[in-house]
Amino acid sequence: MSSSSLFRTKKIEQSIRDTEEPEHALKKSLSALDLTVFGVGVIIGTGIFVLTGTVAKNNAGPSVALAFVVAGVVCALAALCYAEFASTVPVAGSAYTFSYASLGELPAWIIGWDLVLEFALGTAVVAVGWSGYIRSFFDNAGWQFPEALGGRDGADGFGFDILAAALVLVLTGILVLGMKLSARITSLVVAIKVTVVLIVIIAGAFFIKGSNYDPFVPKSQPVEAGGGLDSPLIQLMFGWAPSNFGVMGIFTAASVVFFAFIGFDIVATAAEETRNPQRDMPRGILGSLFICTALYVAVSIVVTGMQHYSELSVDAPLADAFKSTGHPFFAGVISFGAAVGLTTVCMILLLGQTRVFFAMSRDGLLPRFFSRVHPKFRTPYRPTILLGVIIAIVAGFTSLSELAELVNIGTLFAFVIVAISVIILRRTRPDLPRAFRTPLVPLLPIVSVAASLWLMLNLPAETWVRFGVWMAIGVVVYFLYSRTHSRLGRGEEAPAEGTSKPSGGGTP
Ligand code: ALA
Repeated sequence: MSSSSLFRTKKIEQSIRDTEEPEHALKKSLSALDLTVFGVGVIIGTGIFVLTGTVAKNNAGPSVALAFVVAGVVCALAALCYAEFASTVPVAGSAYTFSYASLGELPAWIIGWDLVLEFALGTAVVAVGWSGYIRSFFDNAGWQFPEALGGRDGADGFGFDILAAALVLVLTGILVLGMKLSARITSLVVAIKVTVVLIVIIAGAFFIKGSNYDPFVPKSQPVEAGGGLDSPLIQLMFGWAPSNFGVMGIFTAASVVFFAFIGFDIVATAAEETRNPQRDMPRGILGSLFICTALYVAVSIVVTGMQHYSELSVDAPLADAFKSTGHPFFAGVISFGAAVGLTTVCMILLLGQTRVFFAMSRDGLLPRFFSRVHPKFRTPYRPTILLGVIIAIVAGFTSLSELAELVNIGTLFAFVIVAISVIILRRTRPDLPRAFRTPLVPLLPIVSVAASLWLMLNLPAETWVRFGVWMAIGVVVYFLYSRTHSRLGRGEEAPAEGTSKPSGGGTP
């Protein structure tokens, strides 16, 4: 096998031909403000609405606010690299598409396989978060949802989250039918979501008890029966006694709440649709990251001030904090708004992963069976249904934080590859057009790699094992199937009629 074939690239013209431009509001010239609003719309989700409670309770206490700052900085560095990568090849699409045209087939496969994990499991995480808020809403109305149908986290280790599974199946159906989220609905949902977050901050500020902040950074505590695979890899690597809280707890928390920022990478892919990318892309991405970080820090300070961190709920912490202070009305409003907001985040992630899967199938790296679009709806219904059903089952049975950790390691890994690629491509392909150029290359990408790796090392060892297994399966699939079925490898050119241009979905 020649190593050069592993790095065979699709011609840029061919990528342009193959890549469908999704019909959506962002198609025309975008301003920095449009990008910022869109970014805030995609980014705010289960991370702030649910994980804040879990990590404050288990890892960081009130210092979860600092964890959000750490994760935000890591994302900002990655975002600057991502924006150059996304704008290096003049085609719309995901990191998979860009890397196929610039880095080569094997790196593209690895990124694509990794993105399927990020988006598919990310969908499951958001669905589980949504279910927590729906249950909290019912609970507020005096209707107890059966515990065994409330998911693993809620029912002593076993249960099936029927609401999360149902949401994924309904959204799958909507995507198969090709229904779109109009720009108007998207803006409305963003407005509702941000309003709810502001209500938490402003109304919640009146219920803060100073004593809840004492201590702000809880003292480091040894983990009972520690040393297991559930400890952060960094602690096991250096033989440190596994512990929660303390300064290291802030980093552990940051590696989990990193999930709250996922989605800005989708914004970076809009570089080609941006009026003045060199100026507006960093403004848009960094602007939305800054706004989200500020909101996240404020929410976590307020919530850990309203209720002692050890008592926060893990299902719907923002709403439940209001219940704990005797304000069920606010709790109801928050649950309702959170559920509305999380629905669109879930849909965008679900759509993202079917698109990546579809693109890999269209290129022949996954069976071509999956890239036949529906004769009537013109949607990639086969991968949508297959992955929708799998995600629904995963969302039903798996614990939210375990899933989020796996999504995070996959996403951080993609950031590492993207940052390294920016440096490599500057050398190997200086000729490629770049709508946006990362500042301070190679320093900034190197710092970005180090920062992403640092967060990865703070994830549990078992997350590394799961991720390793997923990537190993990917490499086996590549060498057993994709390499020989690749349309590029077979010298085939443009896609056959009926296999391109899916429609539908309210794409980012
Ligand atoms: N950042 C998104 C969320 O927190 C994915 O739900």
